[in-house]
This record gives sequence, structure tokens and C-alpha cells, in this order.
Amino acid sequence: SCPGPLIVVSNRQPYRHEYEDGGGTNAAENASDRSITVDEPAGGLTAGLDPVVQQTDGTWIAWGDGDADFDVVDEDNCVDVPPDEEAYTLRRIDLSEEAVDSYYYGFSNRVLWPLCHGFPDLIEDRTNDFEWYRTVNERFAKAVADHANDDTVVWLQDYHFALAPRMIRESIPTGATVAQFWHIPWPTVSTFQHCPVGGRILEGLLGNDLLGFHVDRYVDRFLDCVARYLPAATVDRNRRIVRYGGETTRVVATPMGVDAESHARTARSTDAETFANLCSEYGIPDDGTIGLGVDRLDYTKGIPERLTALERFFERYPDWRGDFTFVQKATPSRTEIPAYQHHGELVRSEVERINRRFGTDDWQPIVYTEDYLEEAELCSLYRHADLMIVSPLVDGMNLVTQEYVAASVDDTGDTLLLSDRVGAHELLGSHAVTIDPTDVDDFAERIGHALAMPAHERRHRMDVLRDRVFDADLDRWMTTQFDWIRRIHTGSESQR
Ligand code: G6P
Repeated sequence: SCPGPLIVVSNRQPYRHEYEDGGGTNAAENASDRSITVDEPAGGLTAGLDPVVQQTDGTWIAWGDGDADFDVVDEDNCVDVPPDEEAYTLRRIDLSEEAVDSYYYGFSNRVLWPLCHGFPDLIEDRTNDFEWYRTVNERFAKAVADHANDDTVVWLQDYHFALAPRMIRESIPTGATVAQFWHIPWPTVSTFQHCPVGGRILEGLLGNDLLGFHVDRYVDRFLDCVARYLPAATVDRNRRIVRYGGETTRVVATPMGVDAESHARTARSTDAETFANLCSEYGIPDDGTIGLGVDRLDYTKGIPERLTALERFFERYPDWRGDFTFVQKATPSRTEIPAYQHHGELVRSEVERINRRFGTDDWQPIVYTEDYLEEAELCSLYRHADLMIVSPLVDGMNLVTQEYVAASVDDTGDTLLLSDRVGAHELLGSHAVTIDPTDVDDFAERIGHALAMPAHERRHRMDVLRDRVFDADLDRWMTTQFDWIRRIHTGSESQR
């Protein structure tokens, strides 16, 4: 548990208020006559943190992006949540369209995202984006200061808030602790040089007392960047402590997990009908072998490379045509950004091309959907898929991998093909089939190899994967985070 009242800061909010009849507001219409629905946390971190904030009677500060969000808050933009059993305060930050365009679609996702994932060519440094990013960070920092006292623990999430920690540190009582978890990779020194404001980003982050990454590699690279770009900083590599600008920051690797129990439970509770409905809706043959990919439609996920490997596989293993179907669920994301639009077009046209090449009247090699799937439908797909391919070019952790393993409840020996460039590979690589996402020939061979693997070997591998995912679950991750925070907060861990 958290050693003090917790303030969570994240870009996405845990509850969103929306008008039922959609956004089309008629100026003459009275807002109070329209019914409002609340979107609940779908899973992952938001759902995991929600009970922790509830326990500490804490505060959650996030961008209010729902169309009814500011019609249900008080004069301080606060609303008590969860809606039916009010346990903590959700404070919403109201961002103008221009602010969203520059802070979210701009500096966060056109600069930091490609930078941290090692795609410097995709960085678009537009005028004013950084200035808006700074302004929005300042607004979040001010909101934190409104709610913080001497015993507060502030816990920031992710790359949307690289500048806020120092601003917060300078405006809240010294007894409070500021921590952050960076959910995406940290780049190498040579990639980081493409950051237009690298020094400012590092200075901001070094306002934290604790800074967490998923794996050691990202911690080491972060320390390398500090040593290289902030000569005034003192970096103690053994203890992973940085001193800079009067602050001391402890940097740790704490790999995140998923709520494995909940995914297993949902998978078990899905009936044969849920899966049969999915099969008939999408034309998945329910008697063949099923491969699965589940990703946000993002250029880091390696979807085009995966499709090419599947094409090569069907070329080389013609016997599998008609018997193996690959289901790709893709969730459109950040679609206002040209790099995402181009990537989406490429993925769709590749799927069509491959389906034209191998498809027959009653079979398509790739079933592709961008539909929203309910949690139960997704878990049912996880449960029934014989093989999952996770092939990002880079990924901080990749929680979908862990969800798949947790939801593989049937002991049928499901197989995981896993890119060696994702955080999850450190935990699961030894018992997955490792792939290099860009080596098409080898990737295709490994799909063939995975499909031919004897059942006892598949079962053994999945048993080990399941143990690891259940051991290193979300609960464990949070306990580790709060253990670190407690040591720093109570002063039992010397930062000197
Ligand atoms: C990544 C980030 C999260 C983010 C998620 C979805 O996993 O680490 O912070 O919420 O992508 O992206 P979006 O831009 O839709 O919030």
C-alpha cells in the first residue's frame, strides 16, 4: 500500500463522462436534460490503480476528454468517483483543442513517442508544440500543488509529463515524495541527440525522487543520456542515483505486469457461444488452427513485417493454407498524425493483397478487424487462439503478451512467438519462440516450427510462461513500486 495520500497524474482519465446521444450539441438544448454515461476503466494500469487511490482517499489528475466531463464537476473541476461509491477525487484538466493538438498530438506523440521508440526520422518538431507541452505540464503541476500536503505521494505516469516533476518538486512541501513511471522505452544516447530539447526533458525528469522504467536496459540508457547531456549531474551508476539541481533521483527497473487472475477468470467465464459468434461474425473457421495478433495500430508494433512473414510462411508451407488462419485485431490510434494514417493504410492494403493472393471462396488467410471488442470477446479470442504473434520493432513492455498467457487457461499448449525487442522478452523470452521481427525468412520458419512443435513441449513452455506471468503480476508491480516509494518517503532509503 501507499505510505501517504496518493495523487496520481496521468494523461488518460479513469472515468469519462459522455452524453449518450453523442457529441452533437445543440446550443438551444439544455445540458441537464441529456443523459450521461460513464466509461469505466477497461483494464490495465487504470483499473489496477483505481482501488489503490480509493484506499488512500487520494486524488487523480487527468485530461478531461469526455464531452460531458465538465458538466459534472464542481468549481475546481473535481468530481467524486467511482460514480456509485464515491471514494476519491478526480480532478480534470480542461484542455483547449489547440492545447490537445500541440501537447498530445504534437510534442508527446510526434516527438517523444518516435524518439523513445528509436524512430528519429518520424520526429516532427512543429513550432509551439514544446511550448504547449510545457504549459500543459505546468497546469498539471499547479493542480498537484493544490492537493498536496507534507505527507503526499505524487505518482506521475508516462511520457506526457517529462517537465512536470521538477515544477511539482519546486511547489509542494518538502516532505512530499514525487515519483514517476516511464511506460515506454528510453532511447540510446545516439537516438536521444535527435531530441530538440533533450536537456530540458532530463532536467524535468530529475525533479523526481524516484523514476521507474520496465527493464535495466532503459535505466542504463537513461543514465548514459544524463551523463552525456547534463554534465553538471553526478551519476552514481552502481546505486543508480543521480544528483542534479539540488535533487536526488533514484532510478529503478520494475517490470510491469497484468492482472493475470482477472484475465484468466474472464477467459474461463466465456462460453463456447461467445467464440462461435466471433467466428461466424468474422469468418474465422472454428475447426482450424488460429493465430492471433492484438495491437494498437502503431508503427512500432511491426504489423507490416508480421504480415510479410505470414505471406512468406504461406508460400513455403502451402499445406497450411486453408488450415491456419491469422486473426489480426488492430485498434486505430492517434489517427490525426500523418505517420499513423500512412501506417494504417499500409496495413490494410497489405492484408488485402495477401488475402487476394492466397484466399479462396471459403477461406481467407488473414482475418483483419478494427472493431471494438468487449473484454470477454478479447479473452475468448486469447483463449481459443493456438498461437499468438507479438512482433513489435520496439515496445516498452507489451502487456498484451502477458494477457494472452494469462487467458490461455485450457492446457492445450498454446504457443507464443515473441519479438526480442520488447520488454516482455526479458521475462518470457526463454520459453517463447523468439523472433527477430525484421528477418522475414527466419520469422516465417519460426511460425512453421511453432506450428509443428510437439504438444508436450508446447504445454511445458506455456506452463512456465503462466507461472511467470502470475508471479510478476500487476499487484506485484504495484507492491514493488510502493516499497520503493515508502523507503524514500520515510527516509529509510538514504538518497545521499
Ligand atoms: C501506450 C502509452 C500509454 C497510452 C497508450 C495508449 O501504452 O504508454 O500512456 O495511454 O499507449 O495511447 P493513447 O495515446 O491512446 O493514450
